Amino acid sequence: MMDQDFGSVGNGQKRQPIENPCHQTKPLFRSWFQLLLLLCVVVFVLCYALSNSSVSWQTHFALQKHYKWPFNDKNKVYMSSHQVHPKHRHILIEIQTTTEPSTVQPVKTQYHQAYPRNYNFIMDNKEVCKQNPFLVLMVPVAPNNVAARDAIRKTWGKESLVQGEVVITLFMLGLSEGADVDKLQQENVQYHDLIQSDFMDTYLNLTIKTMVIMDWLATRCPAAAYAMKVDSDMFLNIDNLVIMLQKPNIPKTNYLTGMVMTNRPVVRSKDSKWYVSEELYPDPEYPTYTLGMGYVFSNDLPEKFVEVSKSIKPFNIEDAYIGMCMKKLGFTPTSPPDPSQFQAYNSKYNRCEFSKVITFILGPPQELVDYWTDLKKPGPPC
Ligand SMILES: *[C@@H]1O[C@H](CO)[C@@H](O)[C@H](O)[C@H]1NC(C)=O
Repeated sequence: MMDQDFGSVGNGQKRQPIENPCHQTKPLFRSWFQLLLLLCVVVFVLCYALSNSSVSWQTHFALQKHYKWPFNDKNKVYMSSHQVHPKHRHILIEIQTTTEPSTVQPVKTQYHQAYPRNYNFIMDNKEVCKQNPFLVLMVPVAPNNVAARDAIRKTWGKESLVQGEVVITLFMLGLSEGADVDKLQQENVQYHDLIQSDFMDTYLNLTIKTMVIMDWLATRCPAAAYAMKVDSDMFLNIDNLVIMLQKPNIPKTNYLTGMVMTNRPVVRSKDSKWYVSEELYPDPEYPTYTLGMGYVFSNDLPEKFVEVSKSIKPFNIEDAYIGMCMKKLGFTPTSPPDPSQFQAYNSKYNRCEFSKVITFILGPPQELVDYWTDLKKPGPPC
């Protein structure tokens, strides 16, 4: 745009008269006339160029200002497709091959892309918290993953009174092109357990999802005592979790527990699905954090996380991001009373073992239903 404008000025100068028939009789008048004519042409061309491009120049400056505040524009490109976990890759492909729905309002990035108040709840179910739950289980799940939701509703999500305490299970969804909006609404009418916000639901946006969970807990459910962020492919021994939280020595505030990770190096290999650039996260190690598969926290923390996140640059590792929030707040995650209860992978199902733990990562939803059914059958598990 700017190059073209300068080009037209150059052409204008070439248009000045080369010959003047009066040059022999009035040389002084000729040079003054030439100068005046040249000036006229230059002024005319300049005016023309300015009137055509002033709007775009203004826009250009406005955009530069927008991207430079409060961080530089490098922060905006904070997720790359290298980091997609294989089992979630289909979600990203689905998003990449489609365009954004036209009904989505433009996102205002007041603080940064993961600041949850940049997004709006489409489904919100705030009345579910009137029961003053002891524990709220928040499950991030892709909109089209009905199978995972149904398996949870038949198993650990089914229980609303556990060890005498009110427990509610809710699913957190973002937007997905593949999702059938009517079906989701019907599902919500039936179960009243869907929370949906208007960010694009992709694996690389999980930090946004976690922060939206925190915002929901802070604004819709502040009276709950504890909450847990638990993945949709998890086995959760909900009784053991409530028994743990009922122990008198469990803190009621500023408490975060789960599988505690300390001194974890940031993955700098670009081929890794966990790759995070130095631009996004400069330190070589993450602060102490709890593994994202399932972490439990006192419900005073969500509001503090949302507030402190304003000043913490987002990156795509959601559990480590919560670790950053804890660090900035001056708190550290605590090991659970029995650390062996928070397990990641299990080699094979063992009824006795599953009766003692709190978490295990599972495979397909049917596995959860099968293991749960077996665990709940009468007779001692060990
Ligand atoms: C994350 O969500 C935002 C807001 O909907 C969207 O603009 C962006 O494209 C998403 N990013 C990825 C990597 O999916």
